[in-house]
Amino acid sequence: MKKILLTCVLLFAVGSTVIAINLKPKADYSNSNLVNGKEKFVKNCVSCHGELGQGDGIDGLDLNQKPANINRKLNSLFTPQRRLINDVLNGEREMPAWKGILSEDDITDIFAYVLEINLE
Ligand code: HEC
Repeated sequence: MKKILLTCVLLFAVGSTVIAINLKPKADYSNSNLVNGKEKFVKNCVSCHGELGQGDGIDGLDLNQKPANINRKLNSLFTPQRRLINDVLNGEREMPAWKGILSEDDITDIFAYVLEINLE
């Protein structure tokens, strides 16, 4: 009897975790400034990440580590936006740190712009 109860509790815990992950709210980009996002993206990111941010920029070809597909990262359930912003601020392996050059708002605007152009 105890075993059945334990199994039920376990199933419930696993089930609700799965539901919670799937219901994870998308980051809110409704207040983002797409004009600013475009300007900052073209100036700072396109060379490595490519026109659509998919990781195919010219400067990325010479790197040991292929630049990330930013659109895919943003749409992944397993990469919270907070982590991506921190990685851009602090740099990640061959990507330089943008802290001091870009603000968190700039990066959020860039993310909103990349999501937008990949919808088209
Ligand atoms: C010098 C080339 C270069 C430039 C310029 C560059 N990146 Fe990157 N970026 C990379 C590389 C290489 C990686 C992959 C690092 C890795 O997978 O460890 C990366 C990874 C990322 C990631 C994924 C981080 C993660 O946690 O997986 C994001 C998001 C990102 N870049 C955004 C940007 C943005 C926004 C800009 C412009 C402000 C930018 N990058 C400019 C090379 C670059």
